[in-house]
Amino acid sequence: MRKLKAAIFISGRGSNLESLIKSTNKKNSLVDICLVISNNPSAKGLIIANKKKVPAIYVVQKKNFEKKITKYLKDIDVICLAGFMQVLAADFVNRWDSRLINIHPSYLPKFKGLNAQEQAIKAKSTFSGCTVHYVSSKIDSGEIILQKKVKILKKDNTESLSKKILIEEHKIYPRALQMVARRLLKQK
Ligand code: GAR
Repeated sequence: MRKLKAAIFISGRGSNLESLIKSTNKKNSLVDICLVISNNPSAKGLIIANKKKVPAIYVVQKKNFEKKITKYLKDIDVICLAGFMQVLAADFVNRWDSRLINIHPSYLPKFKGLNAQEQAIKAKSTFSGCTVHYVSSKIDSGEIILQKKVKILKKDNTESLSKKILIEEHKIYPRALQMVARRLLKQK
């Protein structure tokens, strides 16, 4: 079975990276994770990649970041942003159209941008959630692939909400990646 090759971009903890690696190690996965790219040399996710024996690099320079990584992406079919906290250049996003996906910790279109969980608490919303979407040139606005609502209780704070959302992130991101892979394989 032909599998798609994925690269995961991270900036920090890497818990979504870990759940993606775990899920793609399963027998029926349509995806192989072949590369991790971090924009932060101290990202804990780099240690996870190492432990799981996935090749990983870091590129710290923001300027020309996209140019610098191009040579590593030659064989890559799909890119997953997993806590990657840097806005990618528009021409890069356009080049990877339909093959570049992101997870955001809110029920989009609610609470776009930074600190989405804190935004939800501050807004006294009764729910938020998480969303996997295609990346477009507008932040957190591309076509939604999969999303899951999470209830916000009166006793919740940013930390407790973040934990509840993260549990759901780890479920929907692997599923969304397989959905995208199925779509891409059909086009091949
Ligand atoms: C996750 O909650 C992810 O949704 C969020 O960063 C966290 C990364 O955690 N992403 C964004 O806020 C992007 N706008 P992780 O490194 O443990 O996967």
